[in-house]
Amino acid sequence: MGIDRAGSLLSLVEQIGREAFRRNNSANMTSASAPGKIILFGEHAVVYGRPALAVPVTQVHVDVEISDNDSAGIWLSAPDVDLHAELNMLPSDHPIASVIHNLFFLSRVSPFPNLNVKISSTIPVASGLGSGAAVTVALTRALSEHINYAMTDEQVSAFAYEIEKLHHGTPSGIDNTVVTYAKPVYFVKGQPIETFKVRQPFTIVVADTGISAPTKESVGDVRKLWETDKAKWENMFDEVADISFSARHVIREGWIKMLGALMDENHAYLQEMTVSSPELDNLVSVARKAGALGAKMSGGGRGGNMIALVEEETAPVIAEALMSAGAKRIITTQVS
Ligand code: MEV
Repeated sequence: MGIDRAGSLLSLVEQIGREAFRRNNSANMTSASAPGKIILFGEHAVVYGRPALAVPVTQVHVDVEISDNDSAGIWLSAPDVDLHAELNMLPSDHPIASVIHNLFFLSRVSPFPNLNVKISSTIPVASGLGSGAAVTVALTRALSEHINYAMTDEQVSAFAYEIEKLHHGTPSGIDNTVVTYAKPVYFVKGQPIETFKVRQPFTIVVADTGISAPTKESVGDVRKLWETDKAKWENMFDEVADISFSARHVIREGWIKMLGALMDENHAYLQEMTVSSPELDNLVSVARKAGALGAKMSGGGRGGNMIALVEEETAPVIAEALMSAGAKRIITTQVS
């Protein structure tokens, strides 16, 4: 088989896999899934219009199942967050309630149908892995399909962005984008989605501090810093933008070893932005000492996850070093 043919077959299989990952319908049951995500480069600076790179993490995901119900109401069950309630029992600004109310408003569904909505998730909450965006995206997809209200990926992502804004202050939109498209993205706020090619797959070890990442607060604190000295911080965001730009080039060319140094540099800027923490810094330094090619915190910071770029064969050793240093959970993922 020629390389081109093999390549196009591979991309067809990938496409089918992605589609299967997202939704699966039967007569009165509709289901949809959305993956977790990590930010490789450019968090926080992305809020100020600079580019950032993010990739899906398919080992963790949110799964939503919706079925018609004989009893009146919309019955929600999300055992991972201990939620078992009828929609009207929740405050209208509850993240799940706001998705349902806004989607039904948008699609002009009235009266609300009687439904069972089951949400399960393997994405740790407030860990920088995009659990909020994944719940919104999977729920939006399953609900819209169930009521036959067709939505394109672009519409799902735009809707999820509006929901993110209700709950997270001034998000850039990167989380809803990568989670909706489930592809590596080079993201610039307000611009059409741009995916990037990975010439040589690489391995990332993701380690969770187990500390809840207060993203809204860290984004707000960076804003306060920016307000006190805009010239200084704009300059710093430009430096981070150069890192993201170089990282995309390096990934496209397959020069993976060069990525590690870029991660280290990006981490230093995040420390200056005050969004790292002693726990994140410790795991970053443990990963480097254990042989990672580079490491940084990922996402909002002050808790949540750090990431380390590793050679495939050293991944278990580095994962073990991180666990011994106090990491609560490890995910090893291939970016391809
Ligand atoms: C959070 O995953 C990434 C941040 O840059 C915030 C955002 O882009 O909305 C910290």
